[in-house]
Amino acid sequence: MISFPWVKEVTILGSTGSIGTSTLDVIRRNADRFQVFALAAGRNVELLGSQVREFRPKVVAVATNEILERLVDVLRDSGFPKVEWPVLTSGAAARVAVSTAPEVHFVMSAIVGVSGLEATYEAVKRGKALGLANKEVLVAAGNLVMRAARESGTELLPVDSEHNGAHQCLRAGLRKEVRKLILTASGGPFRNTPKEMLATVTPAQALNHPTWKMGPRITIDSATLMNKGFEVIEACWLFDFEAKDVEVVVHPQSTIHAMVEYTDGSVIAQISATDMRMPIQYALTYPERQEAPVPRLNWGETRHWEFHPPDFEKFPLLRLAFGAMQSGGSAACTLNAADEVAVEAFLAGEISFPAIAEVVEETLEQVSPREASSIGDVLEIDRQSREIARGVCHRRAGVKA
Ligand SMILES: NC(=O)c1ccc[n+]([C@@H]2O[C@H](COP(=O)([O-])OP(=O)(O)OC[C@H]3O[C@@H](n4cnc5c(N)ncnc54)[C@H](OP(=O)(O)O)[C@@H]3O)[C@@H](O)[C@H]2O)c1
Repeated sequence: MISFPWVKEVTILGSTGSIGTSTLDVIRRNADRFQVFALAAGRNVELLGSQVREFRPKVVAVATNEILERLVDVLRDSGFPKVEWPVLTSGAAARVAVSTAPEVHFVMSAIVGVSGLEATYEAVKRGKALGLANKEVLVAAGNLVMRAARESGTELLPVDSEHNGAHQCLRAGLRKEVRKLILTASGGPFRNTPKEMLATVTPAQALNHPTWKMGPRITIDSATLMNKGFEVIEACWLFDFEAKDVEVVVHPQSTIHAMVEYTDGSVIAQISATDMRMPIQYALTYPERQEAPVPRLNWGETRHWEFHPPDFEKFPLLRLAFGAMQSGGSAACTLNAADEVAVEAFLAGEISFPAIAEVVEETLEQVSPREASSIGDVLEIDRQSREIARGVCHRRAGVKA
């Protein structure tokens, strides 16, 4: 384990996204404790350019060379003096380089999808302290990433609010005294929509999440409850649970993020504002706690909290996620790949909302699970699963047309 100097040098993978910008906000408010070493992003060069000017990273990595050229134009046009420019890099190797650089104490893994997998895995292997928002990392390659964490002795600090909540609840007792982990779900925008109406749901309606503001993929995944399924898988890896010991409870107010039931029947809950800066700051400052980054909950107000069991019939992706975790091997990797393809097809208007689950189920049936022995294997299974899922989507789009 690394012991931290007063100022932590931070690399943010996915700095232009929802988690990335919230992480920069936490750093902005704690400028005496954190410094940005590197920023990695995909293609939003305008936002990245303004982040470079404000946070003065030493290195920047973007997805491709062509995007790098656009970033150069943005920096030049902004008048930012060239002597102050960071080292500009691109591609998968560049993402690995910024997450493993010896100067870096903390890596925030917040790229969406498997594009962030290799850089996250390599950072874990080198024992970097790591805030994990990119849940696809554990969904696709949980076995390899957790083995790397055990070997390097680093602890993955969950940023997903439910896992962050669980991490806090698990500090209340011994692991052997834990009976069950309970993850809450808002239920998404279609919690009260009858199942037969889901076929008419538009991308705009599905992107309108009731309680959280997030990137488009996770917002659709929240509407289908796929996101909750990914979280079940992520929790099993992070905290060494079997899927049968993780329960999902619909809690529309999203104020309780997770609960842990101990053997004596006591249930410890983690409660906080629905703002990702809470778990981000927890991960950055762990094991210390800092002043709240957002307004505290007001206990002088009357509150009403509801809890419901999830509807596995209406949201079959949640059932498929439990099944994939129980099947083991690469089933969860295929689940993630197929879902990403299906979500893209839904957002492009090619398939209906219920077809997202159908595409995922059909892809899972066609790809036999196997054990991946390297990240390269995982990426190959991901590629094959996507290809099959695309074929399924095209057939369905043809049927729809
Ligand atoms: N948002 C939340 O509240 C939340 C909560 C819990 C967990 N998470 C998880 O955190 C991750 C990020 O979510 P988000 O909501 O922040 O997503 P988002 O807003 O869509 O941001 C995704 C980030 O990934 C970057 N990116 C995409 N492809 C890339 C590539 N090939 N190379 C480098 N960077 C790439 C994007 O860059 P450009 O935009 O520049 O293209 C962007 O910075 C996801 O795994 C999500 O499930 C999010």
